[in-house]
Amino acid sequence: MTLRELVDHCRTQLDVAGVSFGQGTLHALDEAAWLVLWRLDLPLDTDLDNPACTVSSADQARVHALLNERIQTRRPLAYLTGEAWLQGVAFHVDERTIIPRSLIAEVLAMGWLDEYVPEGHARVMDLCTGNGSLAVLAALAWPQASVHGLDLSPQALQVAARNVERHALVNRIELSVSDGFAAAHGLYHLILCNPPYVNQQSMEALPPEFRAEPALALAGGSDGMDFIRPCLQQASRWLTPDGALVLEIGHEIDHFERAFPSLSPWWLETSAGDTQVALLRAADLVAWS
Ligand SMILES: C[S@@+](CC[C@H](N)C(=O)[O-])C[C@H]1O[C@@H](n2cnc3c(N)ncnc32)[C@H](O)[C@@H]1O
Repeated sequence: MTLRELVDHCRTQLDVAGVSFGQGTLHALDEAAWLVLWRLDLPLDTDLDNPACTVSSADQARVHALLNERIQTRRPLAYLTGEAWLQGVAFHVDERTIIPRSLIAEVLAMGWLDEYVPEGHARVMDLCTGNGSLAVLAALAWPQASVHGLDLSPQALQVAARNVERHALVNRIELSVSDGFAAAHGLYHLILCNPPYVNQQSMEALPPEFRAEPALALAGGSDGMDFIRPCLQQASRWLTPDGALVLEIGHEIDHFERAFPSLSPWWLETSAGDTQVALLRAADLVAWS
């Protein structure tokens, strides 16, 4: 069997089983390719159509075992492999934290936030750091910056610490257990925040893959805004006068506008749409609050 035939077979099986995507891959083909290449220890950029790439029966059996586990348990593939990728950077991941996929990573990669991170000593906060992926990407993007990752979950912070070590950033990323801004200190030029924002109704409809993630990382109360309300009220206290808060709200634009009718953020365009990541300057937050 060729590599392409095996990937196509897995793709069909995933589609037929009706598993959910959105935790590292967006559709069955990508998920099948990732599953096969990871199981066979092949690089993710392997040419699937190279006719020389054939798969032995023993390797096919190993792939099928992983495929069956994915389908039968409905656990996200990233939890089965222990690894997830964001913007081409690898992260360790397990059930203690959600799988990295924040859209803030996209705007960071576009360079749209560079103007808020001055040369010399800059300070960036990653509020709700979870797995630490945004803190790591920020530290890689801005070598002049020190980054402070905050999270309520000590278990998630253990994963973040592993990722900080993996990328040799221990000297530039501080991690703190913190309820909201409780452990913040000093002022920050930029605050990144991908908080729990899923509303109660959507939480109840989540497919098994997403229910495998910690509810603390997703659930934002009845309208999804439980964390965001105090965050918006308090953020300017921790920002430099020219600083900004970058906040992800997912699909909660209707609830967001209902909760904060007089707030006019700049919406940063992402692959998922242009009302999912808000940028709020310190001055705008002060005027609003
Ligand atoms: C959506 S996850 C984001 C994780 C990571 N930043 C990412 O983008 O993949 C939200 C995180 O918020 C944390 N969290 C929930 N309530 C919190 C609170 N009151 N204070 C600080 N962190 C909180 C959760 O533990 C979880 O790690």
